[in-house]
Parts: sequence; structure tokens; C-alpha cells
Amino acid sequence: MRIAVKIVGSVVLLLSIALSVTAQAQDKTVNDGVFTESQATSGQMVYDAQCKTCHNMRFYRDTLRSWNNQPLLYLWESIMGTMPADNPGSLMFEEYTNVIAYILQEQGFPAGEAELDPDNGMETISIVSP
Ligand code: HEC
Repeated sequence: MRIAVKIVGSVVLLLSIALSVTAQAQDKTVNDGVFTESQATSGQMVYDAQCKTCHNMRFYRDTLRSWNNQPLLYLWESIMGTMPADNPGSLMFEEYTNVIAYILQEQGFPAGEAELDPDNGMETISIVSP
């Protein structure tokens, strides 16, 4: 009986360690300077040429609100798969990434040292409501 209690105890302990590690990996948010200034600047050109005709910045604020707590990578994938609506997937990976940087900057999120990179950790960055 004692042993069973001990085993259950250790399993619970291991589980809580595992959970806290996972939580840490997800801890980063779009508030933590996850794109660079120059990505946002390049993104503005893409945005003006490819996105502005159909959406305004108000639209992106509502979008980010509805994506609250979701990994930023999912939004990137969604935009890449469906936008521009008249020619989905027509931009380069980098252009999709930069346009997200620009949208985040316009919504008041800070630029930082690290480049936003869909191949490197973007699934661990959570969107927060602007
Ligand atoms: C030809 C018009 C058009 C263009 C150009 C366009 N979009 Fe869209 N976009 C739409 C439509 C239509 C929808 C879906 C209906 C809606 O949510 O208003 C949409 C939806 C979206 C969404 C919401 C997705 C979601 O799952 O919540 C995002 C984000 C988005 N567009 C980003 C972009 C970006 C970034 C660009 C430029 C690369 C772009 N759009 C260019 C028409 C367009």
C-alpha cells in the first residue's frame, strides 16, 4: 500500500515537471520582441502591395483577438494557405513572415533582436490580444 502511494506520488511529480517544462516552452508571446524592425519595414511593402486592398488594420486587430493564445505559427500557416484571397500562396515564405511582423508592429507589439522565423521556434510564440 505504501509502495503504491509512493509510485502514484512519483508519477504525479513527474507529470507536473513535464507540464511545467511544456508551459515554459510556450511562455513566449508576441510581446517579447519576436521580430526585427527591418522585418516589419519589409513587411509594410508587402502589405501595401498585397493586403491593403482587402483588409485594414482594424481587421487585423480583430483577427489577433480571435487568435488569442494560439501559436503564431498557426496564423502564419493560415495566412500562407489562404491569402491573398485572389492568389493564395503566391508570396515567398519570407514575405508572409515579414507581413506578420508588420501587422504585429502596427498593433503595438515591440520589435526586438531576434528574427521571426517559421522554421525556428515560431510554434512556441503565443499570440496575445492587442
Ligand atoms: C482579394 C482580397 C484579399 C486580399 C488581397 C487579401 N485578403 Fe485576407 N481575407 C480576404 C477574405 C475574403 C477573407 C475571409 C473573410 C474575412 O474573414 O473577412 C480574408 C481573411 C484573412 C485573415 C483572417 C484569417 C483567419 O483565419 O482569421 C487574415 C489574417 C488575412 N486575410 C490576412 C491577409 C494578408 C496578410 C494578406 C496579404 C498577404 C491578405 N489577407 C490579402 C480577402 C483578401
